[in-house]
Amino acid sequence: MKIKKVAVLGAGEMGHGIAENCAMVGYEVWLRARRQSSLDDAMNRIREGLIKLQKKGAIKDANEVLSRIHTTTDLKTAVENADLLIESIPEVFEEKVQLFAECDKIAKPECIFATNTSTMSITKLAKATKREDKFIGMHFFTPVVIMEIVELTRGEKTSDETLNVCIEFLKSMKKIPIVLNKETPGFIVNRVVAPTSVLRLCIIENGIATPEEVDATYRKAGNVIGLFELWDYLGLDVVCNAMKYYSQALSPDYEPKYLEKMVKEGKLGKKSGHGFYDWSKRPEIDLSKATERVDVRDFIFLEINEAVKLVELGVADPRTIDTAIKLAYARKKGPFEIAREFSEQQISKRLEELAKKFGKKIFEPAETIKKGKLKELIDQYYK
Ligand SMILES: NC(=O)c1ccc[n+]([C@@H]2O[C@H](COP(=O)([O-])OP(=O)(O)OC[C@H]3O[C@@H](n4cnc5c(N)ncnc54)[C@H](O)[C@@H]3O)[C@@H](O)[C@H]2O)c1
Repeated sequence: MKIKKVAVLGAGEMGHGIAENCAMVGYEVWLRARRQSSLDDAMNRIREGLIKLQKKGAIKDANEVLSRIHTTTDLKTAVENADLLIESIPEVFEEKVQLFAECDKIAKPECIFATNTSTMSITKLAKATKREDKFIGMHFFTPVVIMEIVELTRGEKTSDETLNVCIEFLKSMKKIPIVLNKETPGFIVNRVVAPTSVLRLCIIENGIATPEEVDATYRKAGNVIGLFELWDYLGLDVVCNAMKYYSQALSPDYEPKYLEKMVKEGKLGKKSGHGFYDWSKRPEIDLSKATERVDVRDFIFLEINEAVKLVELGVADPRTIDTAIKLAYARKKGPFEIAREFSEQQISKRLEELAKKFGKKIFEPAETIKKGKLKELIDQYYK
C-alpha cells in the first residue's frame, strides 16, 4: 500500500508540525481542527516555519509546500479520501476514542489510523475502531520538523503490513523510526527518564537541595539545561499529568503531590510566568550553587536501571534504546553505552541505597543488575 493523502487531526503544537513535515516531502495533507481559529494559527506557524526553511535553503519553495496543505473543520472532508490518518488532539482518552470511532465510519477500509499519544495504550485506543490491525502508535517529538526520531508502537492486533507501511512512510519523511516490540507506558524515551522525575522531587521534598542547586550541579556536569529548568519549559501541568498517569499505570511511587500543589497554585512554568523559576526574565542559574549533596550519577544510574527493565519486559533491545535516547536528547551516549563505564556493583549498590533512602520501589535494581548480569547483557549487543 502506498500513502498519498494524509489526514492530520488536531492543529496544535504537534499537528501543525506533522502537517508541515508531510507536505514538505510531497504528501497531500488535510489538516483538521474543530475551530477555524486553530487552523488559522496553525497555518501562520507553518508559513513562518517554511519561509525560514526556504531562507536557509532547506526547501525550494514555501508556497509550493503550502499548496499541498488543505485545512478544514469538517471531519468527513479531512478523512474520507485519506490513506493515513494521524491523530494529534489533546491527551484525553475519551476524546481520542470518540474521534477514532467517528473516523472509522468515514475513512476508507484500507486507511491506516495512527495516534500521536504520549502515554496511552495503543491496544485500548485501537478498540474504538473495527480496524485494530490497521492501528498504530506514531509518537513524534517536538519540534516535529527538526526531531528525527519517531517511536512506532504496535497494539496487540497491529499487522506487520501496517507496521511496514508506517516505517516506509516515516523514512520518506526523513525520520528515524524506533520500533518497540511491545507497548509500555511512556514508550522508550519518556519512560527511561521517568524515575529521574521522582528522584528530583525526592531531593527537594526532603530538603536535600533546592531546585537551583540541583540545576547548577546538573549543568556544571556538562548538561545544557537544568532538570527543573527543563520542566518549566515543558509546562508543569504536562509533567504532572504524565506522572499521574505513571502512578496509575506503573507504581504509586510516581504520585506527583509536590507538582499537583504547584499546578493548583497556577505555577505552570514558563507559560504562566512562574514555576520553579520566575520567568519575568530568562532565569540565570548560578553555577556556584552546585553542591556535593546532589550526585549526578544517581540520575544516570536510574536511567540505566529503567532501560534494563525495558529490555527485561521485551520492549526493545539495548541498541534500540540507546539509539532512541541519543536521538531524543541529543546525547553522545545511550544508557547502555554509559553503563559500561561503571562497575556493576557500583550501580547496584547505589540503586539499593536510593530505594531504601527514599522508600521508592521503582529505584530498586532490575533483576539483571541484581543478578550481576548487566555486563553480559550489554556484551551481547556491543562487542
Ligand atoms: N507537545 C508535545 O511535546 C508532544 C510530544 C509528543 C506527543 N504529544 C501528544 O500529541 C497530542 C497533541 O498534543 P499537542 O501538544 O499538539 O496539543 P495542543 O493542545 O497543542 O493541540 C491540540 C489541538 O487539537 C485540537 N482539538 C481538540 N480536540 C479536537 C478534536 N476532537 N478534533 C480535532 N482537533 C481537536 C485543539 O484545538 C488543538 O488545536 C497529545 O496526545 C500529546 O500527548 C505532544
